[in-house]
This record gives sequence, C-alpha cells and structure tokens, in this order.
Amino acid sequence: MIRGALGRLVGLEGLRAWVRGQTKAIHEDVTAADKHATAAVTLAKTLRKDLAREERKSQTLAAEVERQHGQLAEVSARLARLEALAKANDQTSALVFRSDPSDLAATVRHVRLAIQNSVLEREPGPHVIIDNILPEAAYHRLLSAMPPLEFFDGGAEHTKLDFRLFGEGLAPTASRVIWEAFETEIVEEVLMPALLDLFAPVLEAHYAHLIGPELAAEAAQLPKRASGRIMYRRPGFHQGAHLDPKRSLITGLLYLARPGDNPEYGTQLYSVDRSFTAPSMTTYYLEPDGVPCQVAKRVEYRPNRILAFVNSVAHGADFPEDAKQRERYAYQFYVKPKDGALVKLLRKLPADKQEPWRAVLASHR
Ligand SMILES: [Fe+2]
Repeated sequence: MIRGALGRLVGLEGLRAWVRGQTKAIHEDVTAADKHATAAVTLAKTLRKDLAREERKSQTLAAEVERQHGQLAEVSARLARLEALAKANDQTSALVFRSDPSDLAATVRHVRLAIQNSVLEREPGPHVIIDNILPEAAYHRLLSAMPPLEFFDGGAEHTKLDFRLFGEGLAPTASRVIWEAFETEIVEEVLMPALLDLFAPVLEAHYAHLIGPELAAEAAQLPKRASGRIMYRRPGFHQGAHLDPKRSLITGLLYLARPGDNPEYGTQLYSVDRSFTAPSMTTYYLEPDGVPCQVAKRVEYRPNRILAFVNSVAHGADFPEDAKQRERYAYQFYVKPKDGALVKLLRKLPADKQEPWRAVLASHR
C-alpha cells in the first residue's frame, strides 16, 4: 500500500515537472513571438516612412518633369523662330550681300594668272603649291566670314571639326553666302578648270593605274564637279599617310592661316616605295595596311596658299598636342568626275576591276 502511495507521489511530481517544463517553453515562445511582433511593427513603421519619402520624391520629380516640359516647349519655340530667321535671312541675302561684278572679275583674273604662273611638280607625286592664290582683299573677306565654331561638326575627340558648304545645318547668313559664292564662282568656275588644265599631262596615267589603260583617256575627260568644307583642327590632331576617297581626282587645300600662325602645321607629302592602290572607295591609310612610306616634302602652312595634288599622292598632317597655336583652319575641296558619268564608264570595266568601286556602282543601279 505504501509502495502504491509512493508510486502515485512520484507520478504526480513527474507530472508537475512536465507541466513546469511546458509552461516555461510556452513562456519562451510567447516572449520570442512578442519580440518578432515588435520587430515586425518597427519594420512596418520604417517601410511606411520609406514609402512616404518615395511618394514625396516622386511628386517632386513629377513637378520637375512638368517644369522641364515647359522649358522644352519654350526652347523649341525659340529654335523654330531661329530656323525661320535663318531661312528668311538666306532668302533675302541677295538684298544685303550683292556681289560686286568688278570685284568678282578681278578675283577670277587673279586666280587664273596665279595658276598659269605655277609649276606642276612631279615628286613625290603630281602636285602644285601656289602662293597668293586670291587677291588679298578676297582672302581676308573669306577669313572674316568664317562661321563661328558652334557651327562646325566634328569627331576625333574634338580635334577634327568640319563646316560643310551647302549643308543643311544653321549658319550665319554672311558665312553661308560668302563661302558658297566662293565655292560656286571661284572654285568650280575657275580653280577647278585651271587645275584640270595644269594636271592634264598626268590624269590619264592616274586613271591607267586605277582602272587600266583601256579606258584611262576616257576617264580623264569625264565631266567634273567640285565641293568642299572648311576644316577646323585642334592640337592633338593627327592624320597618317593616306589617299583621299577614290572618287576624288584632285584635292585642293587652301590654307586659311592668319598672322602669327606657325608654318609647321601644313601638309606632309609621302614617297612610297612600291606600287599600290586603295582597295575600296573610302580614305585609304597606308601604314596600317603595311605599305611603307617616308615623308618626302613638308608643305608649309602659309596664308592664302593653295596646295593641290592628284589623288595618288599620299599625304598627312600633324597638329601636335603641345602646339602653342590653338587652331588651324583650311578649306579643302575635291575635284571629282560627276557620279552618273563615272558609273557609266565603270560599268564597261571587267568585274574584277569594278570591285574597288562597288560602293558607287551599288548606289547607282
Ligand atoms: Fe586627305
């Protein structure tokens, strides 16, 4: 009987211990749950704050976007007025910039005489250098009418910028009219034919090398056109030995040097030890293609000087990073056969000879 009572007591104690253990565990769980709940409440508060902050931010941004839309509309309206102004100026420019026929006639005579008195040089390839190509006043008029830098477009880390004549972009009316008249009335009408006469003895040989002897004489006689751009170069500009795009027959460079400009920043002409031709129509760089060449002549950058050469003469230019002079201007033009006439002639060539001209043939189907 005593053993039975003891057994019940032990069972009771065990039960109590078990109940205590469970109660403690439940307390611990409740405490942990309390902690989690507190953390969740804190997190929820933080999230609500973040959300409110983001909402305020997005409202500010929306207001900013709306403000910028307003500004953009204003700028667009101003731009439209500027474009209309430029167009109106161009349309009425003849009223302001009437060219003086006697001035033009004097310039024409001067240019013709300068080219007649020049000498075609053969080494390192057919070229000519003519000083005082324009009457002094005509040259300074071109310098004065140079478009401001904002109207030049460029690349090569802003060391190479161009202003293309007869381009679509905005330009001051005086710049456009004076420079375009120069290109039309002097370059196309006078310089181009006079240079073609001067280079006539070597043009057939140039085409014989490019397309073979059969059609070379015909190619040399194709009708030509001339077009150009004003080139603005900054220190750091480098252009290695190259030929200009294949379509061009003669390149002309009018140096737009000003008093104090350094004559060193002209043009290098290269001699090449072996026969070579450009494989495609684009500018062709000799050195990357493993064609060895050496500087044979340095043409100095002088005011009112023109350098012209047949597009078989490798040439290049350097305007070093550390140059004291900060800008170098030149006007460059290409004399080239008119596209339609050139394509007609190229179609007579055998397929392998047409290959380097594929681009022009493809654009004139
Ligand atoms: Fe060139």
